[in-house]
Amino acid sequence: MTTFAPLDMLRPANKDFLARPLGMIIDGVQVPAQSGKTFDVFDPGSGRQIARVAEGDAADVDLAVKAARRAFQDKAWSGMKAHARERLMHRLADLIEANADELAELESLDQGKPVGMARHVDVAGTIDYLRYMAGWPSKLEGSTIPVSVPYMPNRFFAYTTREAVGVVACIVPWNFPLMMAAWKVAPALATGCTVVLKPAEQTPLTAIRFGELVMEAGFPAGVVNVVPGFGAGAGAALARHPDVDKVTFTGSTEVGRLILQAAAGNLKKVTLELGGKSPAIICDDADLDIAIGGAAMAIFFNQGQVCTAGSRLLIHKRNFDKVVEGVSAIASGFKLGHGLDPETQLGPLVSREQIDRVCGYVKSGLADGARALSGGTMLERDGYFMQPTVLVDTRPGMKVVQEEIFGPVVVAMPFSDMDEVAALANSTEFGLGASIWTRDLNKMHALAPAIKAGTVWVNCHNVVDAAMPFGGFKQSGWGREHGKAGVELYTETKSVCISL
Ligand code: NAI
Ligand code: MG
Repeated sequence: MTTFAPLDMLRPANKDFLARPLGMIIDGVQVPAQSGKTFDVFDPGSGRQIARVAEGDAADVDLAVKAARRAFQDKAWSGMKAHARERLMHRLADLIEANADELAELESLDQGKPVGMARHVDVAGTIDYLRYMAGWPSKLEGSTIPVSVPYMPNRFFAYTTREAVGVVACIVPWNFPLMMAAWKVAPALATGCTVVLKPAEQTPLTAIRFGELVMEAGFPAGVVNVVPGFGAGAGAALARHPDVDKVTFTGSTEVGRLILQAAAGNLKKVTLELGGKSPAIICDDADLDIAIGGAAMAIFFNQGQVCTAGSRLLIHKRNFDKVVEGVSAIASGFKLGHGLDPETQLGPLVSREQIDRVCGYVKSGLADGARALSGGTMLERDGYFMQPTVLVDTRPGMKVVQEEIFGPVVVAMPFSDMDEVAALANSTEFGLGASIWTRDLNKMHALAPAIKAGTVWVNCHNVVDAAMPFGGFKQSGWGREHGKAGVELYTETKSVCISL
């Protein structure tokens, strides 16, 4: 393996960015943490430290929430006409587009993903998301309600309005750092909320750059605040803060539960997008040329660090060998490398902690009797690289079949009939996504309603759109993101009832 010196080849803007003291953004100003503390940020492709970022804790969160509250009440924001808010959001999208290559490079360096993917998925997705959400301010309508209270003689005129919920805490993970931030900040801005964004400690860089671009776009100070820090520090302080009206979170089911408990103090509104163990179901009639490639990408995309990753491959027994062999061949053929190397197809996992966790799962699966058709281990090189892994001889009770691994590891199991596969698909605590690979409309229509998941894809997987509701059944979450359903969760409905 040739050595690759990513820091030397960075764009000048990113070299400058990384050389600066990277502060938090509070009330329109970039500031150090009150404690003066910083934390190190690493390049997962080399394991080397690349930046030092201000470490926010409860005191900084308090300042950020105060700034967000003041901005929420300020006429400059609350009184802004819908069209003006739309124009501001479009300006932010345009600025992100103008800085797209820099942001993609920064995301790749920080997260590990191939830079092309960062550009065409993460950054392009962020721009698209902002533009979709920028359409909403002028379309947040209420309704008129026919009121016929039986015990009153009066006539009434009643209508509803949708008002911004208030100060929103956005706590996001490290798998799509910038895009996850956009998924939360954009609908909040569209509805007139103000936000405190806490990026994941593994990947704070693009969130800070995003905060800078928000200021450059001309949003009033305090509308978007960014507080980098750890979960137990800044994250927990946000979740329990008495002046936060809503918390929106993407991450582990375990932390989702903690956030729910913390939110109980002032009964803040909660949206949770949590773990998954999404099945990819390959029926007997599936077009295997499409299904094999599709199933491989369903799990290996973003190194398997995707909440909807197709991490359980359920294959009709007639196709089992052909599909697992096909997926294993794809798994073994990927070119692994540093995210900034243009040849790279799969990058490293995000952190030492994550690769240890994923390798621990594979070990437990092998100890339980599973067999690795491909991969199975960490690579002996700098950075956190793991060969994509296909496990067979897996049974429903195994830990690798039940728990979210969040890495490039798929478990494959055969099925014989449609009732069996529906039960198998539903046999985890999660319910985020599922895909069905078939050419038979009857099979598709039988399975889609039987599967308890927030999204069911047919002959595709991981297709996510700003307009299409996304979220979890069961322990995969509360509420939906995207589309009208997602936007409405950043509002309160008010009924106004007039006696005529
Ligand atoms: P995590 O759930 O701990 O982290 C996600 C975010 O929550 C980060 O910003 C973190 O700082 C914050 N956080 C952590 N503890 C918190 C607390 N007590 N209060 C408030 N915020 C807190 O996820 P982690 O530890 O990085 O990864 C562990 C596992 O979680 C992964 O292996 C994967 O299974 C799952 N995960 C799922 C994601 C998804 O998209 N659904 C994303 C990231 C992780
Ligand atoms: Mg954690």
